[in-house]
Formats: sequence, structure tokens, C-alpha cells
Amino acid sequence: MDSSRFDTDALVRSVFHDDYGLEASKLEALYSKSKRHQWNAELDVDWKQFAPDAQILDPKRDILSRLGCVRELPDGTRRKLYREAAIFTLSQVLHGEQAALMTCGQLVNAVPDVEGKFSAAVQVMDEARHIEVFARYLALLGHYYPIDPDLQAIVQQLLSERDWEAKCVGMQVILESVALGFFRLGVEMSEEPVLRQFIGRVHEDESRHVAYGVLTLEERIPQLDESTRERLENFAYDAVCRIAGRARPSFTTQMRALQAAGIDAASFFPKLIAEFSNPEGIDFTGLADPIVDTVIPNLIRVGLVPERHLRGYLAQGFRIDLASGVLEDVHTFHPDARKARAELEAQGQSASRPW
Ligand SMILES: [Fe+2]
Ligand SMILES: [Fe+2]
Repeated sequence: MDSSRFDTDALVRSVFHDDYGLEASKLEALYSKSKRHQWNAELDVDWKQFAPDAQILDPKRDILSRLGCVRELPDGTRRKLYREAAIFTLSQVLHGEQAALMTCGQLVNAVPDVEGKFSAAVQVMDEARHIEVFARYLALLGHYYPIDPDLQAIVQQLLSERDWEAKCVGMQVILESVALGFFRLGVEMSEEPVLRQFIGRVHEDESRHVAYGVLTLEERIPQLDESTRERLENFAYDAVCRIAGRARPSFTTQMRALQAAGIDAASFFPKLIAEFSNPEGIDFTGLADPIVDTVIPNLIRVGLVPERHLRGYLAQGFRIDLASGVLEDVHTFHPDARKARAELEAQGQSASRPW
């Protein structure tokens, strides 16, 4: 399927409400802050500082640098692989920004109160700026990769959901939290001077977007009836599965990055799969994972991680204690994670669908 363009039918339930009284709420304060923090991707970044030969992201905190099959590559090839992997990641960020722009445009229609519409509207401008800044940056890097099929599937689902709550969970809490985690890391990992200039500003914007989702849903979720809430819980679980890739790793588009780095995929790929399917040998120390650091904690906070999903999360290596709110990344090879997978299988379920 051609992923360079896809169309999605979207039926948004649009709400007009003639209540313009802005309350001194947390959302109104957020909107006010957003207005003060606008910046210009064209003029506020010194694009002339671009260093074409610089490393884009420091590979030490990328899982690739922890793999035996990568370490044994010749120096030049390894350096190219890190570069292509960074371009791959930034390309997904760019596509994610377009998805955010489109979904948030729908939220302007769909959220019922005026403060929510204002916050979504200013976020639309933020996302347009993010698309601009990453598109300009990838043009300097020379090329970009197509949208990853899992990201595309989530985006199409979000756009076609009719109710704003599902859009808000999928975009504002899950995808925005992934973006926030990536940008937080990017502030430390970026080495190329132009990327270093703007990534912190994008990070600031994204933290407001996540705050919008969390504030809105914290209030809304407790008001939902049980079946709507269960559907949202399952929707959230499914999205985490797709993004975390722990229940079903996806390497489809990464193959192109390997080829661009000049690596013979036929001999390299089996080694890569072998290391990922038996990850005991990988040193995960100091690696950040947005799913653990931001996504699941925010889902817990808005009340979308139910008791009935805990075994599924554990099967993916996420041990959650709802009473204390503590989340531990034990990884898929932990005996408890293996046990959880076996128990699910015995019941005809799986880590990607524990219900
Ligand atoms: Fe963004
Ligand atoms: Fe955003």
C-alpha cells in the first residue's frame, strides 16, 4: 500500500455551544500560557548553523548501540546506521506532527467547552510549527522515511473515531506522551547544532499538549458510563501495544534504514531478530522508554489502566501496582512476564489482546 498519501473518512461529532464565559480554570491558564510561548520556526532558529557531518543523536542512549550485531559492524557502517536510524525516528516524528495537527483540528470541533476549543486551536498552530521545523530539518538531512505502518494504523483509527474522548486519549495522552518522552531525551541526545537549538522548544510545546489531554480526561473519564470507559481502556491498551512493539515487534520500515546504511539486510536481519527475541543479553541501563516514563503513568493518572489489564501489561514487561501507582519495567524476559504470557495463552488470550 502507498503510505505517502492516505485518506480517511472522518465523521466528527461537532459541538457548538454559546457559552463564552471563560472560567479561571486550569485549561484557561494553559491556553494563556500557550499564547505567550509561541515561536517562529523560520526566524527563531539559526538554520545557517547546520553541520552536515555532525552526529545527529548521541547513539549511546539508543538501543541499537547495545546490540552485539551492531557493535560488530565496521565503524563507517555503524556510523551510517546511527545516522539513518536518527533520520528514521525524526521522520516518524514529522508524520506524527501531521497526525497531531489533523486530530487536534478535529478536537476544535468536537470538545464541548470553549476553553477546550481554545486550547486545541492554539495546539493546531503549535503542530503546524512543528511540521515546519521538522520538514525544514529533514530537508537539510537530505531525505525522510515513509510513515511506519503501526503509526499509520493508529492515526487512521484516531481520525475516524467519532467521539472526542477516544481522540483525546489516543492523541493527547498516548501519542503526545510518546513525543514528549522522545523530545525530553532529544534535549540530552541531540548533537547536531540546529537540532539542539529547536528540540527544547518543541519539548516545551508538547508538555502543554500532554497537560491538555490529562487535565481534560481526568475530569471526563469518571463521568463516562461503564461500557464507554471499557472501550477506551481497551483502545488505550491496544495503542500501547502497537507503539511499544513488545507484543509484536514491527521492523517493516526500519529495513529501509538498514539498506540506506549499506547493510546486507538478508544476513543482518536474522541476527537483529534473534537479539530482540532473546533480550536477556541486552544492557538496558540508562535507556529511556517513553511508554514507561510517560505514557502508562499518564494512563494510570486519567484512570484508564484497569485491574483486568494488569496481566496483559505484565506480559509485555510492565509491572504495575495500581494502589501505589508504581510502574516497573521488568522487560519481557522476566519470569513473571513469561508466566503472565503463559497464563493468557492458556485462556486463549494474548499479550496483544488480554480480554
Ligand atoms: Fe507537536
Ligand atoms: Fe503536540
